[in-house]
Amino acid sequence: MNKRTIVTMPGDGIGRIVLDQAIRVLSAAGFDANYVEGDIGWEFWCNEGNPLPERTIKLLEEHKIGLFGAITSKPKDEASAELNADLQGRGLVYKSPIVALRQHFKMDICLRPCKTYKGNPLNFIRRGANGEVEEPMVDVPIFRQNTEGLYGGVEWSAPNGIVYEALMTHPQFVKNFGSTPKEELSVSTRIFTKHATERILRAAFEHARKYGYKSVTVCEKPNVIRETSGMMYKMAQQLQKNDYPEIELWNTNIDAQMMWLTKNPETYGVMVAGNMFGDILSDGFAGLIGGLGFACSAQMGESGVAVFEPTHGSAPKYADYQRSIVNPVAMIESACMMLDYIDEGAMAEKIRKAIAAVIEEGKVRTYDMLKMPGKPDVIDKGAATTEQMADAIIAKL
Ligand code: NAI
Ligand code: MG
Repeated sequence: MNKRTIVTMPGDGIGRIVLDQAIRVLSAAGFDANYVEGDIGWEFWCNEGNPLPERTIKLLEEHKIGLFGAITSKPKDEASAELNADLQGRGLVYKSPIVALRQHFKMDICLRPCKTYKGNPLNFIRRGANGEVEEPMVDVPIFRQNTEGLYGGVEWSAPNGIVYEALMTHPQFVKNFGSTPKEELSVSTRIFTKHATERILRAAFEHARKYGYKSVTVCEKPNVIRETSGMMYKMAQQLQKNDYPEIELWNTNIDAQMMWLTKNPETYGVMVAGNMFGDILSDGFAGLIGGLGFACSAQMGESGVAVFEPTHGSAPKYADYQRSIVNPVAMIESACMMLDYIDEGAMAEKIRKAIAAVIEEGKVRTYDMLKMPGKPDVIDKGAATTEQMADAIIAKL
């Protein structure tokens, strides 16, 4: 059998640190692959004027599967100032390479699982009816539409010409904004297509069926955002009726859902939402299961290219520690999602069991799990280093 090739994109800051540990764990679990490194991030912006060089795109086109650490992004002006002298003044504009990657490969489906590990001190707890402390076991895979909606980039400030004329054909616009000077208007659109909406809904239902979740919840706001949220909910109803009758379809509004988040998070199964609401929802649920050290994600699309990454960023203040203290679990979990995607689910489960065993045992914990402020002295105070955490997981395999 041909060995698979994985494109590793460590990026900036702690990206490389956590990615190296994830690869150690993959090897220890018996995953035999070739790794090729794809250049991405700040260094390539400064030296080449492009944080996502064409050669990295080519590698992904060829090998399809990417493991991504994290990148550093800075505001436009700051980014321009850090360009190498020979690249200055050429009008180069910094654009986040991970966003560019999502768009280039049309990775429209984002999955962010939020699952409680028993014994994690960061788990959400609540008080029961008799004052007792309850620790709900959350297991909510969140499907977020990744390319359209409010983050689709179709926006104007001071809209002019035919854009303004088109807006003025809408009675609601005339009524609420018709007398506002154009220069005072900013417009961001929320565009949903049936194609992408059906794809994200179907992905959610398929996941529920494959992994035995009893419900899929559409979390939008169809009573107010009638056209886009409304379309998504209507399509979900059709899909459920025709193709997934055994799965219950629930409908919640994003605002109410954020309130219910802490009331009964264990009630929910698979959740699905548009781009922005999916972003909000997944951060909310991630907070219940331990936050950034535990939040992982997969991004997939019709091109067959899929990229797996922790939700956290490059955490620059922790990048240069002599002994790294950051939690590698989110990155290792992301690698497990990669294994699921390439039909190595059994290996992924083996690694997840090892992580669960380490967390439940509670002997090896990174600083975030000990609720310490992140400082170099946490190691002396009993926190595990990034490497020790990975070692402990490997030892359980
Ligand atoms: P961040 O996620 O890098 O860090 C925020 C804080 O979360 C850290 O200071 C640390 O306390 C904690 N944290 C993050 N990862 C952790 C881990 N593995 N273990 C333990 N604690 C962890 O977000 P921040 O500080 O807002 O951004 C830093 C840089 O990362 C920025 O340049 C930002 O643009 C970029 N970023 C990149 C992302 C990506 O590559 N997908 C996502 C988010 C931010
Ligand atoms: Mg976010």
